[in-house]
Amino acid sequence: MLVYAGSASKYFGLKLAKFLGIEYVSVETRKFPDGELYIRLGKEPKGETAVLVQSMYRTPNDYLMEYLFISRTLKELGAREVIGVIPYFPYARQDTRFKPGEVVSLSVVLELLEKMCTDRVVTVDMHLHRVQDIEEISKIPFTNLSVMKEIGKYFRDRVERGNTVVVGPDEEAEQWAKVVADVLQAPYMVLEKVRLGDMEVEVKAKEEELIEGRDVLIVDDIISTGGTIEATVRKVKERKANRVFVACAHAILAANAEYRVFHEGVEELVASDTVPSPYSLVSAVPVVADYLKRLRG
Ligand code: R5P
Repeated sequence: MLVYAGSASKYFGLKLAKFLGIEYVSVETRKFPDGELYIRLGKEPKGETAVLVQSMYRTPNDYLMEYLFISRTLKELGAREVIGVIPYFPYARQDTRFKPGEVVSLSVVLELLEKMCTDRVVTVDMHLHRVQDIEEISKIPFTNLSVMKEIGKYFRDRVERGNTVVVGPDEEAEQWAKVVADVLQAPYMVLEKVRLGDMEVEVKAKEEELIEGRDVLIVDDIISTGGTIEATVRKVKERKANRVFVACAHAILAANAEYRVFHEGVEELVASDTVPSPYSLVSAVPVVADYLKRLRG
């Protein structure tokens, strides 16, 4: 087994190779003056399983294209199998045609991976909502791992034991809030979220009594514009929360998301390293490495 990484995930790839005790092969990627990509693999994978790591955040189209070029080339150059490790999987939220004429981006991305010779995909805390089981729509084996237990462990010594509630901003976030709450042996609740536009949401709290005077840990999969977290922080503060912490798997942090997360008074924001950021204090690498070890047998 060899680990290759695209330009989005070199550090993740290096760490993964180290965890697995296998070789990390460098990949040269650069752009020609006209914007086209130049890519060269440091070693041909002849007969080996190639693990290709590329998270697809912030500039998903560039990273996706790079990934597809590399995946196809790995196969051309003799890889026995190509395992795509895509820590942040893009386009998962456009999984249906909400309005006539829309592109169902998720299906297109899945098909591209398959057509460009990826044999198996591994991702982390993918935004699965309408599609609950990604295996149902992916033609290749697809595994969705989670870093939420690790996030829970991170907060064990940070929040007040016995006086903390984990809050998911909406129903979809229940799956993540529950795991973190289990680790902390704390109660959890989910709010009701109404999306008003790309940047604005409104949230309503049902079980108000759980919040007053407690530490609140807000957990979501993605922070993109920060609108969801901003509204959730505001709501729990209104309900007299004690300290407020925020955690997510993928800190995309588009536009002025950091301001929106922090300006109402958040103690700490913690994310995983699926998307590199100053808040990536929890690593998804051990979770992915364990899975790959099991796969190797
Ligand atoms: C969607 O429901 C997701 O779980 C996140 O809540 C959402 O992607 C966050 O986006 P934003 O930070 O732009 O509100």
